[in-house]
Amino acid sequence: MSGTAASKSVSASLTRTPAWRALVAHHRNWTERHLRDLFAADPQRFERFSLEAGGLLLDYSKNLITTETRDLLVQLSLERGLPDRVTALLAGKRVNQTEKRAAWHTALRSGDAAPREVRSTLAAMRVFADALRAGLLQGVTGQPIRNIVSLGIGGSALGPALVVRACAPDTASPRVHFVTTPGEPMTRLLATLDPATTLFIVQSKSFSTMETVRNAQAAKTWLLAGLQATDVGIHFAAVTANVEAAGAFGIAPERLFPMWDWVGGRYSVWSAVGLPAMIAMGSAAFDELLAGAGLMDRHFAEAPPERNMPMLMGLIGLWHHNFCGGASRAVISYEHGLALLPPYLQQLEMESLGKSVTQKGKTLRTGSGTVVWGGLGINAQHAYMQSLHQGTQLVPVDFIAACLPRYDRDTDTQAIILANCFAQSALLMQGVSADDIKRQLTAGGMDAKEAARLAPHQALPGNRPSNTLLLPSLTPHSLGALLALYEHRTFVKAAILDINAFDQYGVEHGKKLAGSLLPELNGKPPATTHDASTSALIRHALKNNGRKP
Ligand code: F6P
Repeated sequence: MSGTAASKSVSASLTRTPAWRALVAHHRNWTERHLRDLFAADPQRFERFSLEAGGLLLDYSKNLITTETRDLLVQLSLERGLPDRVTALLAGKRVNQTEKRAAWHTALRSGDAAPREVRSTLAAMRVFADALRAGLLQGVTGQPIRNIVSLGIGGSALGPALVVRACAPDTASPRVHFVTTPGEPMTRLLATLDPATTLFIVQSKSFSTMETVRNAQAAKTWLLAGLQATDVGIHFAAVTANVEAAGAFGIAPERLFPMWDWVGGRYSVWSAVGLPAMIAMGSAAFDELLAGAGLMDRHFAEAPPERNMPMLMGLIGLWHHNFCGGASRAVISYEHGLALLPPYLQQLEMESLGKSVTQKGKTLRTGSGTVVWGGLGINAQHAYMQSLHQGTQLVPVDFIAACLPRYDRDTDTQAIILANCFAQSALLMQGVSADDIKRQLTAGGMDAKEAARLAPHQALPGNRPSNTLLLPSLTPHSLGALLALYEHRTFVKAAILDINAFDQYGVEHGKKLAGSLLPELNGKPPATTHDASTSALIRHALKNNGRKP
């Protein structure tokens, strides 16, 4: 079925499509299968279920799939009009139907083909970042800026903070810091900085997020007091779509870098939101980040579904979640520089896929986004990997590692890292049977009765799926490709489910309600009534923090 014809059938309810029904039947046969038997029966299984794109290797052979599974998932993608939806996304069409906007983050990394405002903003970012890195920008005392503090939250912080951690040298000058939470983190950071040499970048698409505005005000107070000045505007820059609010705050027009409504916060690291990262890593390296993402975009646009890395990851993710019962998904990196990848993907995936109605407003009849979590594998395997190996929940894992270390060429240590990564995914797949345990224990001299007693406790069930993504090494280019891969993986799931990946009303309500509670927590009389719990919690807090009305 062609993409066009398929898209006309996209209105058919997801669970009534022929492919979905075939997958339900197909899954019933899975209960007797074990991955270690599939590997034993097919020496070519790795070759059959792996591919390279954007410089990355994806080994998806350790997933609960056969070629029939893959074929049915590909058929589902066509029945749901995935190719046409991808074309619309990449062409900047209004795929965000509730807010009537495009979600054109791919335009931010399309080089010379990018819209004029993208290219001019990138040019302005380069001038600003290069001047800061050359020590050419001074504060009110004439001293060069040595510390940058990025004030933002969510998509206005997670992306740049991840990129800085992954790609910027520790000796970067100026040093770049990130503050999201008001209060203690801000106070403690400012205590270590000199106002004369510090510049703040207020990163907020709305320029109204309570936490960020609070931090911006604290920064201004700190500067005015510390510099005994009346105008500290040159110690600020802003990345925002709300030019008026930024101007009212006192940020000069030449220090304003635009955000556009066709770029979602969690998809914005490629835009001016990436400015702190460009300052820390340099504009040439930031260009490499964009290039890596652009390479993955072209792969996503051109590769057929059965050879398309984001499509396969999205479709297999749907198979594991909606058919195999994987309620959460772990992203476990054996590359230290990716320590901030899990929180970044939590926002990307859970704010995009955490929905319960379709684009047409109908209740979704199947699971949407999974809970995403994870961490650094070298620590995980001494902690929660126990649960993934012997627990009762199916938790599909994405393992991510690099062939070469990021900084030095200590390949001996890297061998230890990789051995652990590969061991974890192999054990999840093959397990260790009770019979194998008994053989091992008795071979070691244990009597058969004791070995039989211990075997159930030491056996690993296996048959637990994982992907392994191998980067050549962690560079701006490979990071760009990796992040674009996950953006597109997220879109693939949303397209199959026919949900809007680009709005986030669930978090907008929270922002509003918090604003309405604030006056009471500042000791003012209640403006509205609340549920008994909220009212009691406010009273208790006021009683214990001296702000009783
Ligand atoms: O509350 C959710 C959210 O709007 C995210 O989507 C966004 O990345 C974050 O808050 C910050 O919003 P802003 O950039 O407008 O401060």
